[in-house]
Amino acid sequence: MQRFMESEGLARDRRFKRTTSQNRLLQSLPDDVNEIVRIFELVASKIRERVAGTALEAVYDDLGPAFQFLTASGGRQAKGERSPLQLRMQLHGIFVGEVQALEAAGRTLWDFPDAPWEFNKDMARQCWDEARHVQTFEKLIGHADGEVGEFPETTFLFDAACNDDPVLRLTGVNRCLEGLACDAFRSLIDYGKGIGDDIIAQAVDFVLADELTHVRFGSEWVKEFTHGDAERKASAREFQRETERSFSFGSQRELAREERLEAGFTDEELDEIESLSADAPRRETLLRAAEILRDRHRARKAGEEVAPL
Ligand SMILES: [Fe+2]
Ligand SMILES: [Fe+2]
Repeated sequence: MQRFMESEGLARDRRFKRTTSQNRLLQSLPDDVNEIVRIFELVASKIRERVAGTALEAVYDDLGPAFQFLTASGGRQAKGERSPLQLRMQLHGIFVGEVQALEAAGRTLWDFPDAPWEFNKDMARQCWDEARHVQTFEKLIGHADGEVGEFPETTFLFDAACNDDPVLRLTGVNRCLEGLACDAFRSLIDYGKGIGDDIIAQAVDFVLADELTHVRFGSEWVKEFTHGDAERKASAREFQRETERSFSFGSQRELAREERLEAGFTDEELDEIESLSADAPRRETLLRAAEILRDRHRARKAGEEVAPL
């Protein structure tokens, strides 16, 4: 079996629609309403292509190219506020993340045959957990009247697991992305409790307990693999910063601080993660731009003349 496989090699059945991540575009956005409107109108047809044939097609056709800021989900959503569509989108995003987390941990186990036995055992344990999470979220999608494959799948999680260096894989996947998942799960549990949905609250609570273990695997093995190697330690830290930055756009990140401390983050690291979102456009800027884009999109649909920017 091939080692070091890229995300293009992931097998999916016909229900899934693969799409490219928009992170690069989002990372480069300035905190300027007009500039964001201009950029989104430039790439509007590409965004439309990404969502074609999924449940987001109708959302795009209604709200225009920046629909995602008007239907934002996940950790950057105020607690207790999720429309049925937002909930389905979030559960689906987590579901494909769990599938890829299973694939990523499996690949990491396979790609580094000389790694210590304890490390392989932790990766195997993680596969077992992620397989359970896939089933849990598949059921939660059904619980929310959604369907597997109704939203496009981006492969950013698996892509973070394609690094040749196991230290950077653990940093990117276990510490950054699974750390982010802890924030999102904490907020989803609170949401479930808030609306009296014990199925969501309890199911996600079980998953969160496992994710803490996975973040801890990341924290401990990064420490172990970089022990006595200041250069490698610094490059892991820098990679972590870069990855965190690429996921901090348009958000006032609400960190699950207590859980993250338990999983091996330090207070200093958490303060740094919080400060990263300071360079990104503010939520108000994104919302305002998205509203302008929506109005221009609707005017065009109605056959009205829309002034060029
Ligand atoms: Fe998971
Ligand atoms: Fe995990």
